[in-house]
Amino acid sequence: MKYSFVSLFPELCRTTMEVGVIGRGVQKGLLEVETVNPRDFAVDRHGSVDDTPYGGGPGMVMRPEPVVEAVESLNRLERHALIFMTPTGRPFDQKMAREFSELDQLIFICGRYEGIDHRVKTCLDPMEVSIGDYVLSGGELPALSIADATGRLVPGVLGDDESSLEESFSIGGLEYPHYTRPRDFRGHEVPEVLLSGNHGAIDDWRQQESQRITRERRPDLLDRAVS
Ligand code: 6GU
Repeated sequence: MKYSFVSLFPELCRTTMEVGVIGRGVQKGLLEVETVNPRDFAVDRHGSVDDTPYGGGPGMVMRPEPVVEAVESLNRLERHALIFMTPTGRPFDQKMAREFSELDQLIFICGRYEGIDHRVKTCLDPMEVSIGDYVLSGGELPALSIADATGRLVPGVLGDDESSLEESFSIGGLEYPHYTRPRDFRGHEVPEVLLSGNHGAIDDWRQQESQRITRERRPDLLDRAVS
């Protein structure tokens, strides 16, 4: 999977993709990262990429030329998605993560300032995706979230001992509680069943806990269990 970030903060994108599971995926050659900075396509010698909004109002708006030209400078693989990060986009979820992870390239357009000139959308016709109902000051963290959620689904990126962690949302429930040593931590003991060696009983307990937690915190997930 190749991740292409169109961003005024390429170092944020690159360094984040260097750590942890995703960083290992990059090192193994399973994931690839490239960045392109709209600043390099600025409209003047001063490197301007933003301007005041037509119609007035607070804040600055990203001009269309640097962003569109930055996107057009990228090599696009046949199986790619062009994704515009915006809080008004379609809400990202685990099902989308699985679908994206089957492509060969994800191109993220990350906006800053109050917004991006609307003609970036009319000219490039990207998918618009959000990561939740709150406002962040730029599209980089949302894009990196999608890169993380999809990268860990690319075969070989997760080790065998890690591979169950994404199950939470694909099985339609939240994960059960985990414990390791010590058996007693400040008077809080590990549930007896986990020490029993009875794997049938352990599986049952985990499933019950998962259902209980899901019913308590996210009953909506029980109504729309995904495939
Ligand atoms: Cl995709 N962008 C920004 N700026 N804020 C967000 C978001 C995206 N998703 C949730 N909040």
